[in-house]
Amino acid sequence: MPKLSDFLDPRAAGLARSSALALSEHVEARREAGEPISKLTLGQSPFPVPERMVAALRDAAGAKDYAPTQGLPALRKAVAEHVEKRLDIDRTADDVVIGPGSKELLFLLQLVFQGDLVVPTPTWGSCVPQATLLGRRVLSIQAKPEDGFLLRPAMLEQALASEPPRPRLLVLNYPGNPTGLTYRPDELRELAQIAQRHELLVLSDEVYGELHHKGQHASVARYYPEGTIVSTGLSKWVGAGGWRLGCFVFPDQLRPILEAVVSVASETFSSTSMPIQRAAIVAFEGGEDIERYLFQVRRVLSALGRFTARRLQSYGVRCAQPTGGFYVFADFGPAIAQSMGTVYEGSAALCARLLHDTRVALVPGVAFGRPREELSARLAYVDFDGARALAAVGVIPKEQPVDETFLRRHCAPTVDAVERLGQWLDSRRR
Ligand SMILES: Cc1ncc(COP(=O)(O)O)c(C=O)c1O
Repeated sequence: MPKLSDFLDPRAAGLARSSALALSEHVEARREAGEPISKLTLGQSPFPVPERMVAALRDAAGAKDYAPTQGLPALRKAVAEHVEKRLDIDRTADDVVIGPGSKELLFLLQLVFQGDLVVPTPTWGSCVPQATLLGRRVLSIQAKPEDGFLLRPAMLEQALASEPPRPRLLVLNYPGNPTGLTYRPDELRELAQIAQRHELLVLSDEVYGELHHKGQHASVARYYPEGTIVSTGLSKWVGAGGWRLGCFVFPDQLRPILEAVVSVASETFSSTSMPIQRAAIVAFEGGEDIERYLFQVRRVLSALGRFTARRLQSYGVRCAQPTGGFYVFADFGPAIAQSMGTVYEGSAALCARLLHDTRVALVPGVAFGRPREELSARLAYVDFDGARALAAVGVIPKEQPVDETFLRRHCAPTVDAVERLGQWLDSRRR
């Protein structure tokens, strides 16, 4: 009998579980066992799915047939119209592919694409492991803390020019996980021009687009329509991560890539759940209720993000105020440098210490491709009862800001967690 390890492909054998998911499951198990841990690890919306979507899902529960592999035509049409309206690009139902999560679609795209992955770091956790699993080369561009961890055009130009031209896929995610930051339209235009000049394929990951805190999300596809695939889904903006539905929207010019993705889909997941697709039509067709929901969700996230960043900054932590989504990416290095005592070997050791001492769980920066020794970590500021917060913010007049009193009352677990981190940093200064 050969050794069990001989049965495993070495690439799969070397793959660890996604850090954010594994950590979150670990923390959840400890919470269920009664430990009072603040879970700022999982990138999951705390808000309930809009009621009309839940009703549509209930109504569609009997829809038991396989759906078309590319996705239900009515849903693809709704997605294309949504993208046209929101991003100001021309797309039709034929340009859209539906899958069981945008993560799965990204994996299929990386599978059919022959070339290198180009990605700025910090980057969302699954992008690079997928490429490694498929044996792709990865060109990581280390963004700088002083640039708010955003990709600067000069850095992209330099990285691309340093190698001979070859097929390359740039994955650009904004508003960003883990940064909570996004690009201005003029920055997107500059990045688009470089991508165009170097003939990159761009996967524009906009799963947090609708959670731009001011509702002003713009897409790089507007400036490089022929080379950009837009990625979106239900997971973040309507809080339905567990429903598992994602969409890729291709330009006409990339139809052969779309066809290849659909062929692989037909040989792997076959189709996306029919009831979920029916309910997703409600989200993408939109309506007043969905707009109202988004308005209130953005109000809470924006106020809590600002509070979290400011509070951490006041303790000497380097972080930017988020402009979208629900993350703050914090560099504890400057605050730790001022403190006495232990020297931390890296972000993983720091997060383990924070969990032990403060009972706040964070994801270490190393999980997002940052250097091991950098003392960075991601806070997902979502540990609160989103249904209650949504109900409470709904009665505050639109023009009135969501203040700290509201946050202390309705987002208390997250606020407490941030305070505990601050107290821990303070106690080390004395
Ligand atoms: C930046 C980013 N892209 C994609 C995904 C995957 O989303 P989905 O649930 O659509 O697979 C996530 C999930 O956390 C994410 O943060």
